[in-house]
Amino acid sequence: MAKELLRLENISKTFPGVQALKRVNFTLNEGEVHCICGENGAGKSTLIKVVSGAHSPDPGGKIYFEGEEVTLDPFKAIDLGIQTIYQEHTIFAPLSVTENIFVGMEITRGGVMQFGEMRRRTKEVLEYLNSDIDPDEITDRLSSGEQKIVEFAKALIFERKVIILDEPTASFSVTEIENLLDIVRKIRTRGIGIIYISHHLDEVFKVADRITVFRDGEFIITSDIGDIDEAQLIRHMVGRDVSAFYSRRFGFASDEVVLKVEGLSGNGVTDISFELRRGEILGFAGMVGSGRSELMSLLFGGAVKTAGKLTVFGEDANIKHPSDAIKHKMCYITEDRQASGLFLIHTIARNTIIASLNNEKRICFSPKYEEKIADAYIEKLGTKAPNSSVLAGSLSGGNQQKVVLAKWFNTKGDIFIFDEPTRGIDVGAKQEIYQIMTELLDEGKAIIMVSSDTPEVISMSDRILVMKEGRIVGELSRDKISEENVLELSIGGKRI
Ligand SMILES: Nc1ncnc2c1ncn2[C@@H]1O[C@H](COP(=O)(O)OP(=O)(O)OP(=O)(O)O)[C@@H](O)[C@H]1O
Ligand SMILES: [Mg+2]
Repeated sequence: MAKELLRLENISKTFPGVQALKRVNFTLNEGEVHCICGENGAGKSTLIKVVSGAHSPDPGGKIYFEGEEVTLDPFKAIDLGIQTIYQEHTIFAPLSVTENIFVGMEITRGGVMQFGEMRRRTKEVLEYLNSDIDPDEITDRLSSGEQKIVEFAKALIFERKVIILDEPTASFSVTEIENLLDIVRKIRTRGIGIIYISHHLDEVFKVADRITVFRDGEFIITSDIGDIDEAQLIRHMVGRDVSAFYSRRFGFASDEVVLKVEGLSGNGVTDISFELRRGEILGFAGMVGSGRSELMSLLFGGAVKTAGKLTVFGEDANIKHPSDAIKHKMCYITEDRQASGLFLIHTIARNTIIASLNNEKRICFSPKYEEKIADAYIEKLGTKAPNSSVLAGSLSGGNQQKVVLAKWFNTKGDIFIFDEPTRGIDVGAKQEIYQIMTELLDEGKAIIMVSSDTPEVISMSDRILVMKEGRIVGELSRDKISEENVLELSIGGKRI
């Protein structure tokens, strides 16, 4: 029998107007990966904030660490050996890798800093993690995948017992994801218990020993990985049958070209040419770093073009700034939605309506009208919120994303650029987002979709352009679209 590290009994957490956790139970054993699954707003992040001491639970519940009842606060949690690796890096930017690991806990001898020793320890552990990160590198210069490795190194150096990962692979490339999963498996063998939250069920099935499902703050089930399959897991999460695949109808795009791009270069992309037609979804696939987001930013006037020409609805468009793009009825939903897309101190209603005001003569609507529109999106996307007059900042990560999407769905644009539209979004709501995208097509809009989720880009796109190293390396028409073809082009640059 594996030793139990952590036991939560009857844990509740109430926020004003929301009970995020309702008498839930959870245990974590030595040397296991325990995944927590659930829809947006199910209470996953709240649970791990209780474990890391960031939130104190309502009275009545009990938390045990290695058999002893404990009251947690952030210091106590660290003291017990519980380390949380957050999605956003917690790293102190201008320090080296070694300094970041040891900051506040430097090794000293007779009051003298033992820098050589700290550096040696860092190098040793990084090597153990099969990483060639230089201990002297400035942490800020590392990719987000490498920064996570530094956090793991820290956990190993300080012999933590519990590591918590909340959606660690958002914005990771395929190889970075595999690498992270390898590291998780490796440190599990050292007896560390790992709590892992992800909306990517394939990751969950690759790495979990046990799965716990929450729904609406309630504990639903804990299962050994071998006793549950993906369909059962989804049913527990959503409370109904949902297909993991969306099938839309194809062949309804018109011949009218709404956006024509010729020889566009700049912002790290070179000689990009393509046409976007009314009523189609044009998918952009490729590895992280292949230049897709850079291209979108350039199209939208967020960067300087060095060559090339854009034609929007048959007119020459000299787009030098995002406001020029908006005048041409373009909308750009960036991948970094929370940072650039939401006013956390405004209500959901205000956030939903705000972008559509751009194209209106008036500067505001009545609160009632705003709430009516926002409530309709809450209903449609299944956003977990008491109503649209609560502050956006009080929502869970995925629900904030739904508000940002609602805001853009509600604009009067004609050309939509969606960058990673379903990142952080739960499996049930993805279907609703696909549904809204096809409704936009029915209204005669055109969509560019950048997605690293290959099944998604395959099932949604009329055509796919694959990018590699800042160039378009291939185009797949509907009948050529397959996972193999997308991958071969993305990796090998084989031309089809
Ligand atoms: N600080 C807060 N104030 C008010 N309500 C909150 C706060 N934090 C979380 N909530 C609410 O608690 C519920 C659970 O949120 P939580 O962040 O735990 O969800 P989650 O399962 O992590 O979802 P996601 O997959 O979207 O990240 C949500 O309804 C959320 O709006
Ligand atoms: Mg969360």
